[in-house]
Amino acid sequence: MRDVLMTIYPWLTAGHVIFMVFWLAGLFMLPRQCIYILDAAPGSEEEAKWSHRMGLLRKIILSPSMIVVWVLGLTQAVAMDMFSQGWLHIKITLVVILTAYHGWLVGQTKRMARGERPLDEKTLRLVGEIPGILLILIIVTLYVGRLYLV
Ligand code: HEM
Repeated sequence: MRDVLMTIYPWLTAGHVIFMVFWLAGLFMLPRQCIYILDAAPGSEEEAKWSHRMGLLRKIILSPSMIVVWVLGLTQAVAMDMFSQGWLHIKITLVVILTAYHGWLVGQTKRMARGERPLDEKTLRLVGEIPGILLILIIVTLYVGRLYLV
């Protein structure tokens, strides 16, 4: 099994990085869409349009990309037998936080689609920075942390 995974390893890494970009792009876009829906009156056509767009972003980009990143990341770790390496523990912890943020934000968008306004624009702008900060920490862990934490 590991031989097969090693043969396709470069493809696993390529897919992992490509879908990581899709996932992060979706996470950058979603708070923007939440800010646009704030201007729409609850129950209006405008609100329905934005909640439809948010639903598409979630179903077509965000959730599938997140699943593919997890599956390919874990498969690479199995292929290279990396689970004892400290940098990977830190990386997985950061990705768990990113996944929790994803789930929380999707929950907020569902509330907004029902006409609720749980977050104001300032808060949305602030939480919109979270994926960027986590991305920096994950990449630094991957390329710098692993030099010291093998
Ligand atoms: C729990 C989910 C994840 C796991 C288990 C995981 C695990 C891994 C593993 C084992 C590698 C291969 C390292 C190597 O070949 O030496 C890798 C590569 C990579 N991961 Fe992840 N990863 C996950 C999520 C993420 C996320 C969310 C990001 C970015 C935000 C990310 C960014 C990258 C990048 C850029 C590479 C390419 C490294 C290279 O070959 O230069 N990963 N990941």
